[in-house]
Order: sequence, then C-alpha cells, then structure tokens
Amino acid sequence: MSNRRLVVGNWKMNPGTLAEAKKIARKVKRAAAGLEKTEVVICPPFTFVAAVKPRQKSKNFALGAQSVSVEEGVGAHTGEVSAAMLSDIGAEFAIVGHSEQRKKGDTDEMVAQRLKAALDGGLTPIVCVGETVRDKAGAYMEGLKDQIKNSLALAPKIAAKNIIIAYEPVWAIGAKEPMVADQIYETSIFVKKAFADIFGSANGLKVRVLYGGAVNFRNAYEIMTAGKVDGLLVGRESVNTPGFIELLKAVDRI
Ligand code: PGA
Repeated sequence: MSNRRLVVGNWKMNPGTLAEAKKIARKVKRAAAGLEKTEVVICPPFTFVAAVKPRQKSKNFALGAQSVSVEEGVGAHTGEVSAAMLSDIGAEFAIVGHSEQRKKGDTDEMVAQRLKAALDGGLTPIVCVGETVRDKAGAYMEGLKDQIKNSLALAPKIAAKNIIIAYEPVWAIGAKEPMVADQIYETSIFVKKAFADIFGSANGLKVRVLYGGAVNFRNAYEIMTAGKVDGLLVGRESVNTPGFIELLKAVDRI
C-alpha cells in the first residue's frame, strides 16, 4: 500500500456478535474490490480479526487491530495480545494511541512502546494524535507537537516510511460535526512538519496523514478534497455498512 488513499474503519467495541462482524466485513471487502484508488483497512475487536480474514488475498482490503501489547514474544502477560500474534492471524495494521485508550491511561511513553512493538511484530502502526481542546492562542499546537515527538520516540528512522499518522482532534471524536476542512488542512501540514522534524524532510513529505473525528459518507469527500489529507479514520460510520460503502465510493471518486 503506497501513495493511495487510505480509509481505516475503527470498529471499536462493535458489533455485538461474530455473525454480524462477518457480515459487515464481507460487504466491505466486496465494496473494496470495486475501488480504483482507495485502500480499506478494517480494525475489528481482537476476537473477530481471524474470523473476518478473507480466505484469499483480497483487493484493496486489509485487516488491523485497535491496539497492541507493549509486550513481545510470549509469557506471563495476562490479558495481552502481541503484535506477532495479530500478524499471525492476518492483521497488517495496528492503531496505537487512540484517544479512548489514552483516556484509560496510555501515556505518550506507552504509545511509543506499542508503536515499537507493532513495528517489531511486522504491523504498520497507525498512530493517533490530537488535541483535547483548542485554545485561541494556539498553545495546543505545542502540545500536539510534543505528543507526536514523544509517541514516535522509539521508532528508528528506517521505519518512518511504515508509520501512518491519524490526526484526530479529540473534541471531534463522537461529535456531530467534524473539524472544518481548512483547519484540517492546516493541522495536517503541521503534523507533517512535526514528522519531518523527527525523521527528515523526505519522510515528512511522504508520510500519510489521516483525519478522524465525525467522518461520514456526507462529509468524506469535502474532508479529503478541501482538507487535503491522505485518508480517513472512521469510527461510527465504519460499522454502518451502507454508509461506509458510500463513504468509500465518495473517496474513490476524487
Ligand atoms: P467517530 O470516531 O468517527 O465515531 O467520530 C472516530 C475515531 O474514534 O477514530
């Protein structure tokens, strides 16, 4: 997957049953196969990943996990799932540092460890960053920059091309409206610049920055075109199958 639009569906703790998960995945997989310029990654709960894996390699469609353990190898780590285990059952991506995990206690240091574990285990990390509130003076920009720097602290430069950033202003997650498109554009440039400060300008130009927060099939086109992002991280709409398929088609039309 390179230089293409990327739409990631973060299913969160949905749907309620394996049967429903299979149904959504089957329909999304079929829709993805009909796209020309867009790759789709769905991130179901851990328990559904293996079960929704297509039997054969499927066009424009891949699986991801919603988090990954900081622990590597095997051992006495109750409740943990390693990157290598996820890779073994068919995941290719892992979300790290989602705000809902950060709220439960994930610090930037832990996010950095998860990111490293994902890379070491053969998964492409999708690192979520974003401010909780926006102040008029713009102090949140410094916070965002620190969050990026700290979350990427354990990644070697050579891995930069395998890292995806999802910019998700926390106040827009689960909200009615997304951030306005020109602010998305502005902030995504800021994120690329922060990435360049860490990994060099060539990597800064290449890194894919996704936007997440209240994306749906109605606003996806506008966010992609006016917001000029490389893709989207979609929560609610990713388990609303008809809406998600419309969203994919809208992104592919650009
Ligand atoms: P939302 O969630 O699309 O439901 O706002 C986005 C996210 O949490 O990744």
